[in-house]
Amino acid sequence: MPAEGVELTPSPQILTKTEILRLANLFLSSGVTKIRLTGGEPTVRKDIEDICLELSNLKGLRTLSMTTNGIALTRKLPRLKDCGLTSLNISVDTLVPAKFEFMTKRRGHEKVMNSINAAIDLGFNPVKVNCVVMRGFNDDGICDFVELTRDKPIDIRFIEFMPFDGNVWNVKKLVPYSEMLDTVMKQFPSLKRDQDHPTDTAKNFTIDGHEGRVSFITSMTEHFCAGCNRLRLLADGNFKVCLFGPSELAVSMAEYGSGSCLLLD
Ligand SMILES: C[S@@+](CC[C@H](N)C(=O)[O-])C[C@H]1O[C@@H](n2cnc3c(N)ncnc32)[C@H](O)[C@@H]1O
Repeated sequence: MPAEGVELTPSPQILTKTEILRLANLFLSSGVTKIRLTGGEPTVRKDIEDICLELSNLKGLRTLSMTTNGIALTRKLPRLKDCGLTSLNISVDTLVPAKFEFMTKRRGHEKVMNSINAAIDLGFNPVKVNCVVMRGFNDDGICDFVELTRDKPIDIRFIEFMPFDGNVWNVKKLVPYSEMLDTVMKQFPSLKRDQDHPTDTAKNFTIDGHEGRVSFITSMTEHFCAGCNRLRLLADGNFKVCLFGPSELAVSMAEYGSGSCLLLD
């Protein structure tokens, strides 16, 4: 979130639950099998539990995921699980509370960490933890995150810092995958590459004796466009074909293609 905030889309322009379900149904009938609710921040939506419940009852859905900042999650999580949420990504870029406050411009580090632990206790396995690595901010904390995977079913996903509107991106802040890999390898020499699926966005690794795993999302230095089968539907119903592209499309349902993963932003 840029310091000056963002312009919020007026509510009448945001998809209603009924519209979301109708679109999801159309995508599922065209072969999509996975839906991820992301954002923005999905947990701020008042009807998020109902949306999950009704999505999870749709024919053809195999995985219902959510990517969240974890701040308002702990209390909602048991109900979300009961409503059919099957997989969870929680974003946190540092394990140091003071850095968290500096980077996010808000408090809440403890709440996020509690959400991660609550998700583990509820049996989400793995709990994916998304960490965007930025040089000079949190690159010194990479191995501390990896350490979490020793005894917990956490998949720590180190994400290369991407340029988005207003995030003051600078190539000097980008820590390339190769460098992150070296850092982890030095401290955890048994790090081994897993066999990834062709549509995986992450390069996945395991470490001997660790319960969780380590992944890298290398959008900047080794893109995965060839295997990408994601469709992104924005909160206002527009369609974003590529996370890197600025363009949004308003497409009639007849023109939507098929893929296996739909992200509802
Ligand atoms: C945009 S957030 C939206 C969902 C939710 N609010 C959250 O914080 O997870 C989705 C994911 O994108 C990641 N992300 C945000 N800015 C990024 C950037 N500049 N480069 C790479 N990933 C980024 C976040 O860390 C998060 O894991």
